[in-house]
Amino acid sequence: MKHLSIATLCGSLRKRSYNAMALQAAVRLAPSHMRFETIAYDYVPIYNQDVQEFSFPEGVLRVAQALRRCDGLIIASPEYNYSIAGPLKNLMDWVSRLPDRPFKEVPVALISAASGAFGGPRAQYDTRRVLAAMDALVLLKPEVYINMCNTKFDEQGTLIDPQTVRFLTDQLYAFDRWIARVALNE
Ligand SMILES: Cc1cc2nc3c(=O)[nH]c(=O)nc-3n(C[C@H](O)[C@H](O)[C@H](O)COP(=O)(O)O)c2cc1C
Repeated sequence: MKHLSIATLCGSLRKRSYNAMALQAAVRLAPSHMRFETIAYDYVPIYNQDVQEFSFPEGVLRVAQALRRCDGLIIASPEYNYSIAGPLKNLMDWVSRLPDRPFKEVPVALISAASGAFGGPRAQYDTRRVLAAMDALVLLKPEVYINMCNTKFDEQGTLIDPQTVRFLTDQLYAFDRWIARVALNE
């Protein structure tokens, strides 16, 4: 089977991020023909149109290249104050200004892990809205919200909640089919 190149983006930049742990779990649970590349972007500055008009930061160009060469993108992000985490929104704003629109027609799957009772749905729905503006092709269902995330991983960062493992696995296989459907229509 043809390998699929899957890029991953984490909305949290901290080392012990539960969202980063969720992405590690996704790597473990994914269909075997998926190959993963982590997109690092902690060096991307805060968006400023003056900077953009001078030149796009190198870090933004590198993220754009990773998006252009991937077959699909998985974003895992926390919810910050009922909405998108700032680092992720900042990155999407930067990339959206590139003339060839690197998010355009990229299949995307969304995961959120948050310590609240809901698991970040408000952030995920706001992220869908922003991705729609950029013509990304977001998988609608299954949705994965990892609520009370501090109870779902062990000390080593392994996802240990069986129900979440099931939800995430289902989403990854649905994402595989979604990527195939998108490719058929190209
Ligand atoms: C600025 C900020 C805002 C937050 N707002 C929310 C929120 O609206 N809903 C929620 O469930 N958790 C909220 N949290 C808690 C996060 O869900 C929790 O810190 C989570 O572990 C962050 O994800 P991470 O582990 O990947 O860094 C917030 C945390 C921060 C730092």
